[in-house]
Amino acid sequence: MRITLSQSTWDQATVDIVAIAMPSGKTKLNRALGRIEAIMGKGTVKALASDERFEGKSSQTLKVAARGKAKCRWLLLVGIGEEEDALKIAWRLGYALASAARAQKSSAIDLPEVTPESVRAASQALISGAYRYTEYKSDKTNGGTLTSAVILGAPKGDRGLAGAVRAGKAVAESVNFARDLVNRPPNELNPVTLARAAAAESRKLDLSCRIWNKARIEKEGMNLLLAVNKGSAIEPRVIHVIYKPARPKKKVVFVGKGLTFDAGGLCIKPAASMVDMKCDMAGAATTLGIVFAATRLGLPIEVHGVVGSTENMTGAKAYRPGDVYKSLEGKTVEVINTDAEGRLVLADVLTWTVRKLKPDLMIDHATLTGACMVALGPWRAGLYTDDDKLASKYLDAANEEDESFWRMPLDSDLRSTLESAVADLKHVGGRYGGSITAALFLKEFVAKTTWMHLDIAGPAFVERAQGRLPKGGTGFGVATGVRFLESLE
Ligand code: BES
Ligand code: MN
Ligand code: ZN
Repeated sequence: MRITLSQSTWDQATVDIVAIAMPSGKTKLNRALGRIEAIMGKGTVKALASDERFEGKSSQTLKVAARGKAKCRWLLLVGIGEEEDALKIAWRLGYALASAARAQKSSAIDLPEVTPESVRAASQALISGAYRYTEYKSDKTNGGTLTSAVILGAPKGDRGLAGAVRAGKAVAESVNFARDLVNRPPNELNPVTLARAAAAESRKLDLSCRIWNKARIEKEGMNLLLAVNKGSAIEPRVIHVIYKPARPKKKVVFVGKGLTFDAGGLCIKPAASMVDMKCDMAGAATTLGIVFAATRLGLPIEVHGVVGSTENMTGAKAYRPGDVYKSLEGKTVEVINTDAEGRLVLADVLTWTVRKLKPDLMIDHATLTGACMVALGPWRAGLYTDDDKLASKYLDAANEEDESFWRMPLDSDLRSTLESAVADLKHVGGRYGGSITAALFLKEFVAKTTWMHLDIAGPAFVERAQGRLPKGGTGFGVATGVRFLESLE
């Protein structure tokens, strides 16, 4: 989508459709409608609004034909309720426009306040709101989508605003990249092709991207990752992307779970739970999305992404419950349930990251447990860390991007449930607190590194569109991760 800035007012814009914010409440709404009727003709829009029961609620939009009174063909009145935050309004306008305008191609957006932050939000909302997954549709237009948007009321030559458009675009394109990876079918996206996709995008952005094949992973001694891979006919991969600006302020490493398909292994999943398990590489997609966005934005921080990728299948060589493997860290691990594969893959990748990259901060994203969804519902991610400041900073960033996280406890009492009779550790705890015990297992592999674990099993992939999350792969966590990186001094 092409996004441009213009000094015009809404009635001067020669586009298919213009989005305008409408507050709720009788007097406020009437005043806003009055301003539109000054151009559209007295009594025209108010009558339509009342007929259509449009009250300016934040769930409502109303499409009004311009009938030659303004230069556009349509007005899209977007309810914003009592929202006063200019950023949230900009987001709502961009999102509503991208979803409502299917038959229209060109659009304009009338922001109540034109600031770099609101311009960035509108741009981000437009591009991520217009997202459709069409790779395997014969009709790529999929019902049509916006191709251009003009942000109105922008003073001419304001370089800050032009930069804001680019920033919004950078984040949204990275979010959409992550969504495409998650949505891609698992016969197409496997560890090998995931690594290729990461390498191709890295090449475009002039980033360094290292890929390890199975032989190299064996040489490194990532036996837990290799154990999970045993039942699969496809090789595993470790993917390492590196964004390194001149004189970086900090080194942050994101780690991602990249299970391109999770059948559960020998402890096989029932069909209904398996059907969407292509989404089990969403942590990897988010990790890559964050590094790519940081690159596009040119952030002053060194950002790495490390992804452990394999399938979890039931082939003749599949790992079994009762097996014991020696982790890269050195601890031996007894396998309890082969469907708890994510923590095994992550354990070795976390160890490697701690030892070889020595990050100031390490953050993993993983679709790790169904238990996290039981606890928090399908749209909220679990956030685990011992670092209070880090937790609150991350939650602030999430709030700005309207992504939902909830801090969960790393209760050390539950650590005893990971004790094994035969090995140093077992990888699954008891019946209760399944998301917490998974996090506690990971904690065994982070040594003294400042670390945060984000269980995105719910919001990474959703059954139906919800708020900013589109149906299917959502790219959840990319926007928050980027916001957080921007907030680091
Ligand atoms: N990939 C799943 C978790 C998951 C569930 C992600 C639903 C997205 C949606 C994970 O590998 C898994 O199977 N976890 C098990 C762990 C259990 C066997 C201890 C689970 O949550 O049931
Ligand atoms: Mn599993
Ligand atoms: Zn899994």
